[in-house]
Amino acid sequence: MSATPSFLASPRLQRFPYPFPQDTYRYSTNVEPAFRHVETQAGGWGERMLEIDADYHAELAERRAILERDPSRMALLEHMRPAAWDALETVLATLAEEYPDQMEFTRSGRACHWVNRLLDEDRHFVIGEDSSLPGGPLGYLSTQMQEDVALLDQREDALWLDAGAITFAADWSVGFDVGMRFLEVHGPVPRVHEEQIITRAQQFLMRLQPGQDYRRTNWTLTVDRRLDTSTETYPEWGPGRASVADDPALPERLHLRVEVQHLVRLPRSGAIMFVIRTHLASLAEIAAVPAWRERLGRVLAELPQDMADYKGISRYRDAASAWLLNC
Ligand code: HEM
Repeated sequence: MSATPSFLASPRLQRFPYPFPQDTYRYSTNVEPAFRHVETQAGGWGERMLEIDADYHAELAERRAILERDPSRMALLEHMRPAAWDALETVLATLAEEYPDQMEFTRSGRACHWVNRLLDEDRHFVIGEDSSLPGGPLGYLSTQMQEDVALLDQREDALWLDAGAITFAADWSVGFDVGMRFLEVHGPVPRVHEEQIITRAQQFLMRLQPGQDYRRTNWTLTVDRRLDTSTETYPEWGPGRASVADDPALPERLHLRVEVQHLVRLPRSGAIMFVIRTHLASLAEIAAVPAWRERLGRVLAELPQDMADYKGISRYRDAASAWLLNC
């Protein structure tokens, strides 16, 4: 049971994974076991891996449109085909378990039956036969859940980002990163290399066993309620970063963007599945929860400059912080 807040939080805020346990933020290997309910000042979240909300149809339509415009947001190196089937099976089984009223999944040998009443889908397909599903395993997977997904191969004592369907990236590109090692993928992130955060994260992930699912959160700020902030569309969303600080609509335009990232060892292929769900709440929405408003204001004011630069928030974080602490 969630604590009852002293105000009426919107459904979006009630499930919002507010990411700050304290008034300062630094990078860390912040992993915790999945499926644990977290109470927040507005409600709670965390008991499921895959989160379906009121934006399900809109976000799936947006992903479909992005992939039609730019197929490079989906990448699958040939050796990852078994991992894509493994991911599909794991995701559909998880959806059926977490949403038993809307979803059903059964498998007999390689023959599978999938029902998704939210999308009016009732489908039979055969594991390993790409032609039995529209879009093949990874393409089809991306039409059933709001989450983005990346698949990592483990070989040569390292993890490799060798597949993914990522339409809602926070300032990166799966088309650019595919085929890179985990350490290279994190190349641009400040601090984490000298602090050994990424090498430790890789060691942790390489030891992960099937059934031991973990999760972490990551955050940034995004101008406007925009999921697709990938490198490819930078000309569309980048300029907003320069102008928002002086915009009287800053509290409505600027959003706290939180990713809930799940880390799963796939049971058959041995690949690591990285599932990313993006949540957005405007500063105006955040301000409805007094403790969140104040804490975000302090985190933004204190964040070291190199981290603010990397996150792309330097030009407006002072304005955002001042609004949050004085509104
Ligand atoms: C960015 C840590 C797992 C892909 C980051 C950042 C951190 C981090 C601290 C900077 C985020 C920011 O300031 O906004 C970790 C840790 C992990 C983990 C501790 C596991 C325990 C993964 C996995 C992938 C991944 C499995 C696989 C795709 C990325 C990418 C970026 C990123 C693409 C953006 C890099 C860029 O700017 O180009 N990660 N990460 N991470 N992470 Fe991870």
